[in-house]
Amino acid sequence: MIGLAASVSFLPNSFIPQEHSYDMKCRKARPSDVEAMQRLLLTEGKNDYNYLPETEVKKHLEGIASGETEAVLAEIDGKLAGFVSYTWGKHYPQYEPPDARNRDHGYIAEAVVSENLRGKGIGTMLLGMARDELLKKGFSRIYLKRHAENKASARIMEKAGFVEVETFLDPAIRTYGSRKTTVCRFAKEANGR
Ligand SMILES: CC(C)(COP(=O)(O)OP(=O)(O)OC[C@H]1O[C@@H](n2cnc3c(N)ncnc32)[C@H](O)[C@@H]1OP(=O)(O)O)[C@@H](O)C(=O)NCCC(=O)NCCS
Repeated sequence: MIGLAASVSFLPNSFIPQEHSYDMKCRKARPSDVEAMQRLLLTEGKNDYNYLPETEVKKHLEGIASGETEAVLAEIDGKLAGFVSYTWGKHYPQYEPPDARNRDHGYIAEAVVSENLRGKGIGTMLLGMARDELLKKGFSRIYLKRHAENKASARIMEKAGFVEVETFLDPAIRTYGSRKTTVCRFAKEANGR
């Protein structure tokens, strides 16, 4: 039986995995979740397309304790199934309208779903939740980046309403395939929100 926490009851049905054989709960991450999140990301999140500098990633997630970082996570039968972390700042002022370049925007940082649970809509659901948390904070534009050829990542971004802003060679952090990074943006005004 799927048991979604009240905080996600607004999610469209298409975001909810259809299997009924487990109990899934979604909620904001707490400092006590950080260790399990680091472990999941640095084991199952690793692939040729995902740039994960260990020290930086750990520090980013440790920011959950101070509130510098936030994350939404899914638990299945009490075990961490995946999360999306997010923050805010001036990550991509070059893509912002001139009057917004000195203001913070939302930034989605990390996304991972446990390998044996992929393809069930959990990544899309969590990305949608993270996007909505940033919109609630008043950030009307939200950015993220991925390896240009990370197909699963590209698909969840597309399903959550993110569109490509730019793709460019990024050999400093991309060692595989095209070695390109794609930056995507969700814009509240373009999505009738
Ligand atoms: C990216 C990730 C979080 C997605 O999680 P998920 O729970 O599987 O996501 P969803 O089930 O919501 O959607 C995945 C979509 O990608 C598609 N997909 C997966 N692999 C694909 C591939 N190789 N080619 C094309 N599409 C692919 C799935 O078919 C699905 O799309 P659909 O609903 O149209 O069928 C997960 O793959 C992951 O943890 N990857 C490793 C870490 C990573 O790369 N993170 C992103 C860094 S930017």
